[in-house]
Amino acid sequence: MEMAGEVSEKPQAIKVAAICGSLRKASYNRGLIRAAMEMSKEEMEGVIMEYVEISSLPMMNADLEVEGAYPPEVEAFRRKILEADSLLFASPDYNYSITPLKNALDWGSRPPNVWAGKTAAAVSAVGGGRRAQFHLRQIGVFLHLHFINKPEFYLNAHRPPGKFNADNGDLLDLDTKNKLKELLLSLQAFTLTLLPLPPPHQSTLFNCTTRRS
Ligand SMILES: Cc1cc2nc3c(=O)[nH]c(=O)nc-3n(C[C@H](O)[C@H](O)[C@H](O)COP(=O)(O)O)c2cc1C
Repeated sequence: MEMAGEVSEKPQAIKVAAICGSLRKASYNRGLIRAAMEMSKEEMEGVIMEYVEISSLPMMNADLEVEGAYPPEVEAFRRKILEADSLLFASPDYNYSITPLKNALDWGSRPPNVWAGKTAAAVSAVGGGRRAQFHLRQIGVFLHLHFINKPEFYLNAHRPPGKFNADNGDLLDLDTKNKLKELLLSLQAFTLTLLPLPPPHQSTLFNCTTRRS
């Protein structure tokens, strides 16, 4: 039991919402997220990761916003992001961009912007994902997301030797798992340096729609 005045050596637990930018059933990027979730549960202390699905979100359409309320799927999604301290994005490259992910980012950016002040990391299962990550980071500037810069993480999943199970997207390669763990440790450390500012306060401060010029 902790005595008065004693400082716990356990790091404060951080909540990470993990989002996959591919809707494909056997997505390699979702395989990366599954591996990260397993790792954070089995091998790490102080990282609670939850997968947040984006496939049921409607396409961004401001007509669906009625008297300040969003469709139920959007409300549920926004609540999950608000509850998180940090984001893990796993996205393929779709012609240099992040098609389904952008839709989710847009819904979250509606007032109040639920991304504001949170930390983030990006991983990609394909080499082209580097370009997609640049685009994601660029969008993150306006959403007031704080990305870690290192380590960079992208793979060439379609080149042999295979690192994934092609039938279900499970990550098989041990070296890649170790690299993924390094990234999670970096995200955890960075998040702990920023945590003292409570996210709801920041969300009010950095409301995208009121800052648009
Ligand atoms: C419409 C479309 C565009 C794509 N554009 C690129 C690209 O520009 N660069 C690239 O490396 N891969 C590109 N790909 C390939 C995907 O990144 C690749 O199939 C990846 O494995 C998909 O991720 P997933 O396995 O998580 O579903 C594209 C795929 C689709 C369907």
